[in-house]
Parts: sequence; structure tokens; C-alpha cells
Amino acid sequence: MNFELKPMGLVGASTEKCDALIVLVAQDFKAGKDDLSALVAQTLKSGDLETKTGKCLFLYRPVQAHATRVVLAGIGSGAARDVRAALMAAVGSVKSSALKKLVVCFAAPAREDAVRAAVTAVADASYSYTTTKSKPEARTLTKVLLATSNANEVQRTFERAAGIVVGAELTKEWANRPANHATPTLLAQAAQALAELPKVSCEVLGPKEVAKLGMGAFMAVAQGSDQPLRFIVLKYNGGTKTQAPTVLVGKGITFDCGGISIKPAAEMDEMKFDMSGAASVLGVFRSLAALKPAINVVGLIPACENLVSGSAVKPGDVVTSMSGQTIEILNTDAEGRLVLCDALTYAERFKPTAVVDIATLTGACVIALGGVRSGLFASNEDLGMALFAAGEAAQDVCWRMPLDEEYAEGLKTNFADVANLGGRAGGAIAAAKFLQRFTEKFPWAHLDIAGTAWKSGAAKGATGRPVGLLVEYLMTLAPTK
Ligand code: BES
Ligand code: MN
Ligand code: ZN
Repeated sequence: MNFELKPMGLVGASTEKCDALIVLVAQDFKAGKDDLSALVAQTLKSGDLETKTGKCLFLYRPVQAHATRVVLAGIGSGAARDVRAALMAAVGSVKSSALKKLVVCFAAPAREDAVRAAVTAVADASYSYTTTKSKPEARTLTKVLLATSNANEVQRTFERAAGIVVGAELTKEWANRPANHATPTLLAQAAQALAELPKVSCEVLGPKEVAKLGMGAFMAVAQGSDQPLRFIVLKYNGGTKTQAPTVLVGKGITFDCGGISIKPAAEMDEMKFDMSGAASVLGVFRSLAALKPAINVVGLIPACENLVSGSAVKPGDVVTSMSGQTIEILNTDAEGRLVLCDALTYAERFKPTAVVDIATLTGACVIALGGVRSGLFASNEDLGMALFAAGEAAQDVCWRMPLDEEYAEGLKTNFADVANLGGRAGGAIAAAKFLQRFTEKFPWAHLDIAGTAWKSGAAKGATGRPVGLLVEYLMTLAPTK
């Protein structure tokens, strides 16, 4: 799907040949002298259309436009949230009709945040998962033209959003795949495929290399599965050789049954999404290849399954992490922190300016923040503020969580340096405190995306988050031209 931005208003849009034209009408709509404007004005006057967000009017081959279908959609005050809601509905109403070319036109000059929302919403509304269907209903949409009279002012935002969409779609694809179609080996192959892109390279370590590195915590999680673990190292070298990189670490549990501390059966299928952090790292690299910022980024993905078998790690087992710290595994279902801690130690070798890990880490984070904001933990104020701001700008929001030392109290044990389990209360924070022990050598932040990486219920599926937040943050690190 190809996005294009054109400087034109209703007059231009009305002469575009396309399968569907969506006109976004805000509450302060003022009609011009053209026919399409007059039509919009008429529908408003008659009450057939309201500018309230969520109100739509569908027209077939109206003489006022060259489009086969026209949808007039209210966007209220024209804020990002309104544009998103309007487009989710409007695109939904035309996408079944073999829609190939779509024009989305702002009836008045578009706000920057509205442009961002428009690109993301069209992508989300037209997305279709096909990989494991025998008769897939693939996306037919190939061309999306965004029309606004002030295109020049919003060009940069538009390009950023379009670059993020390519990455987020890769993230969705891999997160959505069932675990038997997204094994650690397949995930590593997906990373290797990214190395075909300019400035991207990839190295994959297997069980032998990982053992040699002493990643005892990561290996303990993988040992209950027949699928061999993979440790993926991605690099994007857009900057100079001497420029220190930012490291992203993505949790890559391709299926989490909990291990011996097994999870209940209900909704266990959703634990195929437990590699969403890893998938977001893949997506970020895809976006970087599209946006080409002059920065260096390293992506680390510890990938394995967390399963039960005669060789699975047991509650009470003590393992030695790559850092040398010993860990008592009190609950085998708290496996994310075990694979991440070794990856965080591995990150030290890059002497990074910052390390950000991304993980579907705790159910407690879902309880705390729901599906709206990801949990953000940061040991460094500047990094925390920059990530928070990036989330706001990218409309991929997060919320700062605390890291007081007192929250680490529950991780104490008589049998190792640290336990992988705190109490139930403040579980998302205890998990972050565990990770923090492995991040002393660099500024660090952690995004708990357990609530935001996918949706449950009828709309079950990956969201592609937090690719927007991460790419937006990384773009701020590039020297401005
Ligand atoms: N992958 C889960 C976290 C999760 C749970 C994400 C529900 C999304 C929805 C993680 O590995 C896990 O099982 N965490 C445990 C930790 C607990 C045993 C300390 C949890 O949250 O219950
Ligand atoms: Mn788990
Ligand atoms: Zn997990």
C-alpha cells in the first residue's frame, strides 16, 4: 500500500478518479464555490450529515465527483482522535468493494496530528491478516492519496507516519502469526530478511553460542522446549562509525504457556503474542530502513518458547545469569525478565547511549493501565521524558511508572542473589525492578506493552504498537538537516 500526499482541497479531490473518496468535514466547515462543497453544505443543511464524529453519509456515483463511492464523514473539531474514529468507520464501509485507490480529503487545512491519525487509521482499517488462511481476503487497497490544501506544512509528519506504518505492519504480521508459524527460528529468519535492506545487518546466535556467553537465565527458559532458542542481533548503521548506538531489546517468547507454573487454559492462545516486543523491534528496523535517519541502532531479541516438559526449569531452581548474578526462579511464568536480563547484559558491549527494552511483561500492567497506555519505566529522567513525549507525538501513548527501591523488597530470597518474583501487588513495578539490576552500565528504559500490543475479543489481533513511539523517539536523535 502506497501513501501519497497532495496539495489539494475539495475541488482537486472531486476530479480524482478513484474507487472511493472520503471527505473529512469538521464542525467549522465553510463551503467554497465548487460543486462538491455545495453538496456537503446541502447535506449538512438538510441534516443528512452531521459534523459530529462518527456520523457518515455514503453516496454512490454522485455527479459532483469522479469517485465511484463518496463518504462524507464528520470529524467534529478535527482533532486526531476524531479523524481516527471517522476513518475507521468510513474506510470500513468501503473496504469490501475491491477498493484499490482511495482518496482521503480534508475539507479544511489539516492539523499535523490529524494527518498522522489519518495515515495510521487508513492503514489499521484496511489491514487484513492472511498468512494462515486458505482463502485469504487480502487487502485490495494499493494507493492512498491524502489531499489537503496545506500539504507543504504537513509533509514531514506525513512522511514520518507513512514510514512508521510500514514497520508497524511488519510488527502486526509477526505478532499475529500463530506460534507454530513464528518459532524462534522463523523469527530469526524474518530478522535476516531485514538485512537485505540498506544499512541493516543481522547476526543470529544459537544454543551453543548463547551457552558460551553464559546466558544461564535465557537458557533456563528455553530448556523445556524442543524448539532451539535464537539470539538475534540486528544493526542499523545510518550514523558514523564512532556514534554510540541506541539499543532496543525485544522480548521474544514465541509462546508462553507459563512453564511448570502453567497458565490456565482460557485465553492461553493469546500467549502467541508474547513476542510482540520482538516483533516491534523488527518493525522499527523496517521503519528505519524507510526513513533513513543518521543514527546507529542495535536490536537484540532473545527468542524462545516457554513450555513444559521433563527438561523444563522448575520452581526453586537457581540459575546464573550472564551478569554473574544468580537468580532463583520461583515462578517459571515470570520468564520474560529472565530472557531480558541476559540480553540487557549483552547490550553493555555496544557502549550504548541508551537501552530501551520492550516486553509483554506483566498481567499487572494490563490491570494498571489497560489497553490505552503502555507502562514506561526509566532510570534516566531525560530518557523517560523523551520517550513519553515521543509517545504523545506518535499517538502511541505511554505513562510513567515509579521505580522506588522499596518495590524491589519482594525480590529478596535466601537462596540466590535475587528471585524472579516479587509480590502480586505492584507486579509490573517489581518486574521492572528486577530488570533494573542488569542495567547499571547505561541509561535504561523499559516499556511494558502487555496491555497495548494486542487486542482481545472479537477484534483479536496485534496493534503494531509501540513502533510509532520508538521510531518517533529514534528520529529525535538524528541530527536535523
Ligand atoms: N507474558 C506474560 C505477561 C502477560 C500476561 C501479558 C497477560 C499479557 C497478558 C508474562 O510472562 C507472565 O506470565 N507474567 C506473570 C508474572 C507473574 C508470574 C509474576 C503475570 O503477569 O502473571
Ligand atoms: Mn509468563
Ligand atoms: Zn511471558
